[in-house]
Amino acid sequence: MEDQIIIFDTTLRDGEQSPGASLNVYEKLEIAHQLAKLKVDVIEAGFPVSSPQQFEAVKMIAGEVDATIAALSRAKELDIKKAYEAVREAPKQRIHTFSSTSDYHIMGKFGDPRYGTSIQEKRATVLQMSIDAVRYARTFCDDVEFSAEDAGRTDIGYLSEVIEAAIEAGATTVNIPDTTGYTLPEEFANKILELRKRVKNINRAIISVHCHNDLGLAVANSISAVRAGARQVECTINGIGERAGNASLEEFVMALNVRKDILPFHTAIETKEIYNTSRMVSGFTGIIVQPNKAIVGANAFAHESGIHQDGMLKNRETYEIMTPEDVGVQKTKIVLGRHSGRHGLKVRLQELGYQLTEDELNKTYRKFTDLADKKKEVFDDDLRVLMGDQVKKKKEDYVLDYWQINIGTHAIPTATIKMTVKEQIIQESATGDGPVDAVFNAIDRALNTKYKIESYQVRSVTSGRKAMGEVLLRIRNGNKSYNGRGVSTDIIEASAIAYLQAINRLQGDLSNQTDAKQKTTYSNVV
Ligand code: KIV
Ligand code: ZN
Repeated sequence: MEDQIIIFDTTLRDGEQSPGASLNVYEKLEIAHQLAKLKVDVIEAGFPVSSPQQFEAVKMIAGEVDATIAALSRAKELDIKKAYEAVREAPKQRIHTFSSTSDYHIMGKFGDPRYGTSIQEKRATVLQMSIDAVRYARTFCDDVEFSAEDAGRTDIGYLSEVIEAAIEAGATTVNIPDTTGYTLPEEFANKILELRKRVKNINRAIISVHCHNDLGLAVANSISAVRAGARQVECTINGIGERAGNASLEEFVMALNVRKDILPFHTAIETKEIYNTSRMVSGFTGIIVQPNKAIVGANAFAHESGIHQDGMLKNRETYEIMTPEDVGVQKTKIVLGRHSGRHGLKVRLQELGYQLTEDELNKTYRKFTDLADKKKEVFDDDLRVLMGDQVKKKKEDYVLDYWQINIGTHAIPTATIKMTVKEQIIQESATGDGPVDAVFNAIDRALNTKYKIESYQVRSVTSGRKAMGEVLLRIRNGNKSYNGRGVSTDIIEASAIAYLQAINRLQGDLSNQTDAKQKTTYSNVV
């Protein structure tokens, strides 16, 4: 009998902590709906106490999306209250609270003598904080997850003590994160086996793992942990997350599917939704999927050499261990064109994972017909772009209305732009080293800013001369960076849109920080 592995998706929480990625409330909601379609068991929707925007996003997801909705909280009363308040409307709610258990973390975060003077005293403080946090969370909700942050580098004796106490206090899931991506598969499996031996009440909770990918071992470690007895795996779409990211959901799930012969486990995941979800997350976060990425990369099912192609034509299994269709990559491309109707567009968008109100459909249809006039053939990736733009614009302060450029062999590139800035119309012109630079300078002038552009890439969304161009860039402000993505049949326009998206994200973040400082009273839990 195969055991089911619970898939806990943290794309919207740990994934959003990826450098440059920050999603607005509507983008998160759209992704959460798609995650529900993918049939993940638990969606970690955010960290509500960290800002009113995070709170609002978790609350909105909890009110609309059919899955267990989890919210993260430190082991602090205010965090836990906010977490509960944000998820309380979900059909199934979970509070996820955590403490740091490795000596590295304890010394770093609890160095102050009020937490104890020796490491033993500090460990005792963390143990008590963990117990109190779980007990407090249980006063709100029956489903409480406790994580021992940096468990991968935590002394096994102390880790066992904390986990046993957390279960005693009411934790229903105990998570063993390899926060720094330090462990090796066998070592991590032994940690799980050892906990199963040492923790007397371990059978009263589900063991979860949360592996980071600093050594490229996050999926391997998750699989080893499952073989050793873990029954929940925390992962993200495309493996995004802090630093090198988290275990990739698609890789973990497909490893279980393909290697059933030695991995007698299953998940509820609808694998045919994997590709749509991957594209949506990449589009909204602006984080490109590397072409050779397993399962969802552009080359994952491409066969280049003659020998491979010949082998494939004779028998697919010669070089393929799963088919593209298994993960929702369509072989035959569905093409829409200027004669496609509203209904055809709606159906295709639904198949790609987008939910549309009548009003949204009307707006998208207008954009679709504009695009079809320019391009003739509209592919799935073009539709994803249209949808991405629509969701993004719902929450942007700075919107490009119009642009014009003057270039030529002997002309100084000059750009004029018209923008809506918080409902005010602004027009500006500037010159530059080239047309893209001129547009960026005009935007800087309009907003009275100048940001360092850390990276800038252009590529085509689909193939052919009429393909849309996609620009991905990253700007920096202090120690934080922000991604922007723009797509258009013109790459100058795509550049301007991408730059503005990054600026919108930066501004959104700055106003979140201001809101957080002002301690907005968005709590009504007493
Ligand atoms: O990596 C980590 O330890 C985390 C915890 C908050 C679960 O993200
Ligand atoms: Zn993490």
